[in-house]
Amino acid sequence: MPDASRPDRSAPPERIELTAAGVVMRRHRGDDVDALHEAIEQSRDHLRLFMFWADQDRAASAEFVGRAVAEWDAGTAFGYLITPTDPTGAPAAGDVPGRGSVIGGCGVGRAPSGLWEIGYWLRSGATGRGVMTAVARALTDLAFSSSNTERVAIRCDVANTASAAVARRLGFTLTDTVDHPVQAPGHTGRMMVWTIGRGEWPVAPPPQSSSSEPSSFEPSS
Ligand SMILES: CC(C)(COP(=O)(O)OP(=O)(O)OC[C@H]1O[C@@H](n2cnc3c(N)ncnc32)[C@H](O)[C@@H]1OP(=O)(O)O)[C@@H](O)C(=O)NCCC(=O)NCCS
Repeated sequence: MPDASRPDRSAPPERIELTAAGVVMRRHRGDDVDALHEAIEQSRDHLRLFMFWADQDRAASAEFVGRAVAEWDAGTAFGYLITPTDPTGAPAAGDVPGRGSVIGGCGVGRAPSGLWEIGYWLRSGATGRGVMTAVARALTDLAFSSSNTERVAIRCDVANTASAAVARRLGFTLTDTVDHPVQAPGHTGRMMVWTIGRGEWPVAPPPQSSSSEPSSFEPSS
């Protein structure tokens, strides 16, 4: 019988509200498949250049959601859907099964290199407003809230200037450029590795999270 009085430190908050950016990040649920797939379908042209999965069908989106739920439960990676905050205070659209409005996805997990690594994408039409900079900042805070994280990475193709700009804006530095398989039309075969160390990361501002979850976690390695 789990002890409800002891916080679960094996996972980060399931819901993080970024008020200034007007978005909510929340972990995937089994019933998110249609909302996620709709966002991908609406954004294929914008995603295709760098995301190998841009043309995936609904079954692949369902498989993705299932994997995201399983990885979270196993404590190996923490993926979030990004949805708009409802200014009226009502549940955000993406919090209600059947209501769409997924505006992107993101996550943090331990890469084969051993580094904690952040990934992200935005729906077309949701770019250019600083949403992903705010989301990636929250994910970096989250990664460093685990005591065993010394360095966090953002990897992107050398041609992906928008993604590199997010890393640069947050103070990550270009640590390496490595070969990587060409998996999407915009890939050049060379990947930038942007990283930041614990000592370089700013002290986190007061949490904007509306979650009641603990502010630190110890993921499975
Ligand atoms: C990578 C990606 C998420 C970046 O999106 P983005 O809109 O450029 O990033 P942000 O949401 O942080 O917005 C930054 C833009 O908003 C502007 N902005 C406005 N308000 C801002 C704020 N408060 N803070 C930061 N930027 C702000 C910035 O100037 C910038 O605009 P610019 O590109 O004209 O200079 C997006 O291009 C994408 O989804 N690409 C396809 C998928 C992909 O490549 N994923 C990454 C794989 S490695």
